[in-house]
Amino acid sequence: GRNIHFAEEVTSTQKIAQTLAAEGAQEGTIVVADKQTNGRGRMARTWYSPSGTGIWMSMIIRPNIPINNTPQLTLLTAVAIVQAIEEETTLKPDIKWPNDILVNGKKLVGILTELQAEADQVHSVIIGTGINVNQLEEHFPEELRSIATSIYIESGELCERSKLIQAILLKFEALYSLYLSKGFIPIKLLWESYAISLNKVIQARTINGVIEGKAIGIDNDGALLIETDETGIERIYSADIEIKQ
Ligand code: BTN
Repeated sequence: GRNIHFAEEVTSTQKIAQTLAAEGAQEGTIVVADKQTNGRGRMARTWYSPSGTGIWMSMIIRPNIPINNTPQLTLLTAVAIVQAIEEETTLKPDIKWPNDILVNGKKLVGILTELQAEADQVHSVIIGTGINVNQLEEHFPEELRSIATSIYIESGELCERSKLIQAILLKFEALYSLYLSKGFIPIKLLWESYAISLNKVIQARTINGVIEGKAIGIDNDGALLIETDETGIERIYSADIEIKQ
């Protein structure tokens, strides 16, 4: 059976999942909270996680893969969430590399993947997902209103969080067993079918600077391939992406 921990209020489900993982929690362990007081986003940002309206969830998985392949799991999770949202709502979300799920250009879902590893051996991967479900526009802080959205804002219909969680877990399980048996290629093809940044000129802000060029695909690790005028094809493992044209 699946091991689901539910809490009314936590600092961050990521933090709790990391503690559980370090204590040996089994693969598939899930931490869900109604509210996070210190929800964390990528690149040291905070993630707005009020009570009652969103899905704040972290999952522990223990795949037997090299560290370099872990971005594949972020892409797999994004596909699972898009498929679940398509099943449970009228929305047709897009994926912006690596892990933003957008509707009408606004962010609906964020995914944060963290690792516990030693040498090249992955002990656990903690996949955190934040999904804006039933917020009204005025629930978002002013500065988020132009960039964030919710399922309710976009579809006009309330969505039962527990049903959506169940759908996500089922989609994840199906894709994860496909991944374990057939590798990343089938996942990559699905991911590419939802991606909006491919074949567009994008600007990637990485820790090593800004790279501008055409997004031509993802490689077998899940890295984004950008074709630049100056240096040819660059692989990007982590960045913020802006679509230019
Ligand atoms: C992003 O920056 O886009 C990623 C946001 C990830 C937010 C989720 S909410 C559940 C889990 N716990 C956290 O503290 N963060 C992730």
